[in-house]
Amino acid sequence: MDQAFEIIMVEFGLIGKKLSHSFSKEYFEGKFIFLNLTDHFYHLFELNEISGLPELIQNHPALKGLNVTIPYKEDIIPLLNGLDDIAEKVGAVNVVKVEADKTLSGFNTDFYGFKKSLLDWIAPGEQKALVFGTGGAARAVCAVLEDLHVPYIRVSRKKRDDILTYADLKADKSFLKDHKLIINATPLGMFPEVNTLPDIDYALVGPEHFLYDLVYNPDLTLFLKKGFGRGASIKNGFEMLHLQAEKSWEIWSA
Ligand SMILES: NC(=O)c1ccc[n+]([C@@H]2O[C@H](COP(=O)([O-])OP(=O)(O)OC[C@H]3O[C@@H](n4cnc5c(N)ncnc54)[C@H](OP(=O)(O)O)[C@@H]3O)[C@@H](O)[C@H]2O)c1
Repeated sequence: MDQAFEIIMVEFGLIGKKLSHSFSKEYFEGKFIFLNLTDHFYHLFELNEISGLPELIQNHPALKGLNVTIPYKEDIIPLLNGLDDIAEKVGAVNVVKVEADKTLSGFNTDFYGFKKSLLDWIAPGEQKALVFGTGGAARAVCAVLEDLHVPYIRVSRKKRDDILTYADLKADKSFLKDHKLIINATPLGMFPEVNTLPDIDYALVGPEHFLYDLVYNPDLTLFLKKGFGRGASIKNGFEMLHLQAEKSWEIWSA
C-alpha cells in the first residue's frame, strides 16, 4: 500500500531591504540545530517594498514568525492586525508573530533587550541620558528610559523642537557634563564604516560617564574606544542583540 508522507515545515525569517549578512539567521539556525528542530527553517526575505508582505505570507503557509529590520520597523505597522503594548508605545516593530488564523501581531523586543542589558549594567536613577539618533532603535531606547524614569535628551543631525544637534553639545559643554549616560543608537562605527563615530567632544568624557553603543560589530567601536580611553565605563550592543533574539523565540513559541 502506498503511503503518503507529509513533510511538516516550520518557517521563520527576516524581512528587510538589503540583507547581505544576518545575525538572526545564524542565531536561529544554530538554535534549531541545538534543539534538534530539523523541520525548522530560517530564511532571509529581501523586500523592495513592505507592500510585498501579504504575498510573502501567502506564499509561505508554514511561516510562524518574522524579524523585521531596516527600513521596515515602522512601515510594517499598518499591515499588522495588532500590536502589543510595548510595540505600540515604541511605535516600531521588530518581531511579527503569524497567528494560527494568519493574522499578524507586532512586538518590539529591542525594548526588552535594551532594558534588561541596561539594568544588568547600571542602576539607573542617578544619571541623565543623551540618546544619539532618532530611528527605530532610538525610539526603543527612549521608551525604556521613560519606563525607568531616566531623564533624557535626544541628539540628531537635524535641529528640531526638544532635540539637540551635535553642534549644540559642542557649543554648551554642560550637556555632556550633566548627562552621564551616553547612548549611541546610530549606525556610526558599524562595520564596514568602522572609522566613523558620533561627533562630540570626547575630552569632556570622563570616568563618571557610561557609554552604551547599540552597535555590536565590531565589538569595540571607535565611540567606545574613545570613551574607554577617557576612563568611562563602556558597553556594546551584543547582549541586547542576544536578548532581543531570545525574546523573539519566546513570542513565537508561546
Ligand atoms: N544591539 C541590538 O540589539 C540592536 C538593535 C537594533 C538596532 N541596533 C543598531 O542600532 C543602530 C541604529 O539602528 P536603527 O534601526 O535605528 O538605524 P537607522 O534608522 O538606520 O538610524 C538611526 C538614526 O541614526 C542617525 N544616523 C544615521 N546615519 C547617520 C550618520 N551617518 N551620522 C549621524 N547619525 C546618523 C539618524 O538619526 P538623525 O537623522 O536624527 O541624525 C537615524 O535616524 C544600528 O547600528 C543597528 O545595527 C542594534
